[in-house]
Amino acid sequence: GGGGWGGQRSHQDMRDAKVQRETDQFWMHQKRILRQRRPLRDDVHWKRAERDLFKQAHVTQGINFDHYDEIPVERRGGKAGDEPIESFQEACERFELPEELTANINRCKYNKPTPVQKHSIPAALGGTDVMVAAQTGSGKTAAFLVPIVTASIRDGVKAREGPACPASVVIAPTRELCQQIANEAERLCFRTDVRVCSIYGGADAMPQLRLLAEGCDLAICTPGRLEDFINRGVISMKEVRYLALDEADRMLDMGFEDAIRAIVVESDMPPPGDGGQGRKTMMFSATFPKEIQELALDFMMPSYLWISVGQVGTTASNVEQRFEDVAGLRIDDKFSTLIEKLNEVKSADGGIGKSIVFANTKQTVDDIAWQLSDRRIRATQIHGGLSQAARDRALNSLKQGRVHVLVATDVAARGLDLPGIDHVVNFELPNNPDDYVHRIGRTGRIGNKGVATSFVSYGESALKGIVKSMRAAMKEDPENATPVPEWLDLQVPMGGGGGYGRGRQRSRGKGGGKGGFNRGGYGSDRGGYGSD
Ligand SMILES: Nc1ncnc2c1ncn2[C@@H]1O[C@H](COP(=O)(O)OP(=O)(O)OP(=O)(O)O)[C@@H](O)[C@H]1O
Ligand SMILES: [Mg+2]
Repeated sequence: GGGGWGGQRSHQDMRDAKVQRETDQFWMHQKRILRQRRPLRDDVHWKRAERDLFKQAHVTQGINFDHYDEIPVERRGGKAGDEPIESFQEACERFELPEELTANINRCKYNKPTPVQKHSIPAALGGTDVMVAAQTGSGKTAAFLVPIVTASIRDGVKAREGPACPASVVIAPTRELCQQIANEAERLCFRTDVRVCSIYGGADAMPQLRLLAEGCDLAICTPGRLEDFINRGVISMKEVRYLALDEADRMLDMGFEDAIRAIVVESDMPPPGDGGQGRKTMMFSATFPKEIQELALDFMMPSYLWISVGQVGTTASNVEQRFEDVAGLRIDDKFSTLIEKLNEVKSADGGIGKSIVFANTKQTVDDIAWQLSDRRIRATQIHGGLSQAARDRALNSLKQGRVHVLVATDVAARGLDLPGIDHVVNFELPNNPDDYVHRIGRTGRIGNKGVATSFVSYGESALKGIVKSMRAAMKEDPENATPVPEWLDLQVPMGGGGGYGRGRQRSRGKGGGKGGFNRGGYGSDRGGYGSD
């Protein structure tokens, strides 16, 4: 009725007023900063930052680290001068990396580059666009941050009036991933003047706007909030020289493609360019379906370099894959099996293992977390239906060991680098094999070993692709890879459906993408479409 409509309008008015208030604050804060000149980051600041950035628990390289060198690398395109580096020292000599950056690489204890870093860093430093597929947990973040930070340190900083004009923009699909990449960027920018800002939805805009008002060289963003800030006129894309899409296949998938186009093509961001001209583009993921590789070309120079470390879309070789036949089990028995399996995997020192349990819907995640707590297992949950504060709290309790189990939807499937995850459990298999690759990649990172246990039911659509990817991993690295159990092979549904081809129907060009189907399916949780 009329009352409801009026109510909606005043709600909208209140929102507009809030946006206006926040945006005014941005300009007032900036005036104040410029009058006082920028706040000094003094020694006290850096001492405190050092503790936060380098003294906390991080994922450290495991015994299989050197094994990465045996994985075959495929390269296509690029130009002379893009040849891989063998060591970080070589990068310093060939490209005159800033001293501060090399000091920070040492502080991070990165002694040797991983294959994805060896191949991507020199190309990007030399101004070549890169499209990269490499295993989960193999150091893709630093592979795009090292060239970006190099450029930022060289350019120096510009504190001035007007919208923030970052020279580099990184876009990632989830808020937590955004925070994590920003943290790694801050580690690499330690004791420099480079200003890193993270811009993501779900959290109050005010603190982000204040930081932005103080200047921003490197912005790390989720697409929704970035679009919002562009529309408010507080950030401009006009000086962007480096654009990195992390989890690029996801960023160009249905849910995000329109937002990415708006930010990259329809804003004032410079087009792709060579040499000193235009924008350099970097795209990274562990999975990169063919049709998305093609789509990605819209954003790159034709001279781009394609790099794949191992076969695209294969599971990380350090993860032992176990499967459990739960077809026909009652839900109670499934919970009992879950608890059994959680107990089977211990931490490296023989204590209680840390696990992430994935399920496909928020509801199932809540149910599992409740069941575990009911059986006195310390568990927490994360999904798109929770407030940002609750999501942060969940990750922190796992990091700090207050809980041993995190139950999650696919919001936690990609990119998260949580220390000491011994075990990933798929209480339900995801609907497509690429999601499986990302989920189990939360363990077995940077040469550490991990275990993944997946519950397999009837008619699993992803199974065909999973089995295919396991076979590919076996060819690549027979020593570490898991053989496909015979019974699992028999479970693969016959005929159409499943497999890698997911029938992505799209028409390129105008109007394409809209009206397609949401491949996560109804009720699933793929990072909160639109809300980020
Ligand atoms: N050269 C290196 N030596 C040792 N540790 C490294 C090195 N490079 C990165 N790391 C560490 O390895 C871990 C995994 O790196 P990162 O998160 O970048 O992996 P990724 O390839 O992006 O994985 P995902 O596909 O899951 O996003 C991080 O904790 C990072 O600090
Ligand atoms: Mg990553």
